[in-house]
Amino acid sequence: MPIHATEQGWILETQSTGYALGLNAAGLLAHRYWGARLPRPEDYPPAPDPMPWVSFNGAAHLTPEEYPAYGGLKYIDPCLKVSFADGTRDLALHFDSADLREGNALDIHLCDDVYPLRVTLHYRVHEAYDLIERAATITNDGETPITLERVWSAQWHLPRGDTYRFTHVSGRWADEMRLQREPLVPGIKTLESRRLTTSHHSNPWFAIDRGTADERQGEVWFGVLAWSGNWKLSAEVTDFSSTRISLGVNDWDFAWRLAPGDHFSTPASYAGYTADGFGDASRRLHDFIRDTVLPHGHTIHKVLYNSWEATFFDVDEESQARLAEIAAQMGVELFVMDDGWFHGREMDNAGLGDWWPDARKFPRGLTPLIEKVNALGMDFGLWIEPEMVNPDSDLYRQHPDWVIHFPTRPRTESRNQLILNFARTDVQDYIIGQIDKLLSDHNIAFIKWDMNRNVSEPGWPDAPGDPRELWVRYVYGLYRVWETLRTRHPDVIWQSCSGGGGRADLGILRVADQIWVSDNTGATARLFIQDGFSHIFPANTMEAWVTDALNNQLSLEFRFHVSMCGSLGVGGHLLRWTEAQRAEAAKWIARYKDIRHIVQLGDLYRLRSPRDHALSALQYVSKDRAEGVLFAFRTFIPDPAQLPLIYLDGLDPDALYEVEGFPGSRSGQAWMKAGAQLDLSDFQSTVRRIRRI
Ligand code: DGJ
Repeated sequence: MPIHATEQGWILETQSTGYALGLNAAGLLAHRYWGARLPRPEDYPPAPDPMPWVSFNGAAHLTPEEYPAYGGLKYIDPCLKVSFADGTRDLALHFDSADLREGNALDIHLCDDVYPLRVTLHYRVHEAYDLIERAATITNDGETPITLERVWSAQWHLPRGDTYRFTHVSGRWADEMRLQREPLVPGIKTLESRRLTTSHHSNPWFAIDRGTADERQGEVWFGVLAWSGNWKLSAEVTDFSSTRISLGVNDWDFAWRLAPGDHFSTPASYAGYTADGFGDASRRLHDFIRDTVLPHGHTIHKVLYNSWEATFFDVDEESQARLAEIAAQMGVELFVMDDGWFHGREMDNAGLGDWWPDARKFPRGLTPLIEKVNALGMDFGLWIEPEMVNPDSDLYRQHPDWVIHFPTRPRTESRNQLILNFARTDVQDYIIGQIDKLLSDHNIAFIKWDMNRNVSEPGWPDAPGDPRELWVRYVYGLYRVWETLRTRHPDVIWQSCSGGGGRADLGILRVADQIWVSDNTGATARLFIQDGFSHIFPANTMEAWVTDALNNQLSLEFRFHVSMCGSLGVGGHLLRWTEAQRAEAAKWIARYKDIRHIVQLGDLYRLRSPRDHALSALQYVSKDRAEGVLFAFRTFIPDPAQLPLIYLDGLDPDALYEVEGFPGSRSGQAWMKAGAQLDLSDFQSTVRRIRRI
């Protein structure tokens, strides 16, 4: 049983970790322990009591509370802040009760001393993944409304008194997921999105270590928030050496009117602990995402072709058919027509919202093209951007009030578009109807769902509650639309794109199968972007195209190898590729088909990061350790240079393995400890199959 209730409180155990909480002498629900699993329940430390007296600070400031609310002599970053109808703006929570629930779950109820407000903390143990899931529900049991001003999902506590290093990702459009490492010092480090989406700029993910962990060893605490809207991560080191990471819906410009009898439930935060470094932390998340989050987590994704970088908006039946013919000859399995196909879409200044084929470009509709693609042996996929509208569209002319706006302000356009207010059910229903029709009328196997701007003037004139609920209700609406379409069209594969990686999170991966990682398809930049991405997401979600970017500087081989590290796609202008290039592409696609089950579903080992080394390498190993693939990339290293050895990982030390390109066989231990010498020149790369004998 992974959850024990004892006199000291509760212990949540996974395969190799333990997490304990309980009430301390001050009656506060305190964090007790999070780390390696201990042999006996009695081994877990009791809830820490606050220091007896510290002038200027109350007991709660000195207690690692599981879910601190704002109130009393406590100044740490709280998880919950509310305003009662009479103007009272603090909380005094006490423990009420706890329920062990089906499915390895625990609910702990806290109630306010005076007001009819109930906080339920939800815990769930994901034993096999060494992850704990947390969320909270706030219920108004009274007769007057309560305004929620901040309601986060969880506060995760690190062992007290140590100093820590914080790993996270930052970036921007076309440069997402750059890994950052920095010491945590007293104070608060905040990461957030105020953009309506998860954003290209940072991601609700953290990894914490004591500064000594690496890919292969060391204690790492890591976690995520499963949410696709505004979010906040607060990493606080208190003035009393307590380190906490809180995650939740962003409280910036947030308010939620909790009517009598209503409740508000937060999105989930998942976090884990490992003693085996950042590599193991990633693998745990990858397995969890593939096994439990993704709708088709174990489906091997097809090699796709995408038209965007070839034809941009200039699509029509003939040009796409010509691309499709070449793609099919190369071994592509899924042909995706990107932007430009729908009513009035000549450039980015018109058409969004009118989701039917453009009569000039497709006078016979989409079906003849789809039939052609199918006859070539490929599935057909299509690009849409359902949350958007161009002012120059039939939809906007009919419903100018459907966009997010403040009536007295100009509506700021970005990429000539405005955002439909997905918080409104009429908007959701309209879009469900449009996209459902598109999918019902055509044989479409794949949808790329794009979202190409961030919010401005976040107004909702007819909002039924507080207009600031928009931030959350928009995401609820997005999930509802997507889930409804998924349910009606369960075999469609969906990709989450927001101008590249602007919406990559575990919330969207409940409805989307893949993520378009970045609009930057330059293979050397991709090495970094994919490295950051791989810390959170598994390779089957990482769609990676070979395009014409950097084709003057990088070989087709190098570009293919980079994309073969994820879910391979091609996005170059195939009509301009020579016969020799097409033949080479066909060779790499065939090679990818041979190894993709290992890449997409295996364990990832980052052997040498491109952040630290001009010779970078990564390896995938099948779950049964019988086969693997090694990728290595050399960028620029001044000659004369002897390349460092590559130490493989994840093999059975006692088994014998062959690695393509090396004579004979060696034990797994030898490949891992004695290493392998590669010979690559500048901007050369290699892919090597690994086989257990
Ligand atoms: C942004 C995406 O990231 C691109 O791949 C492409 O689909 C364009 N939008 C189309 O407008």
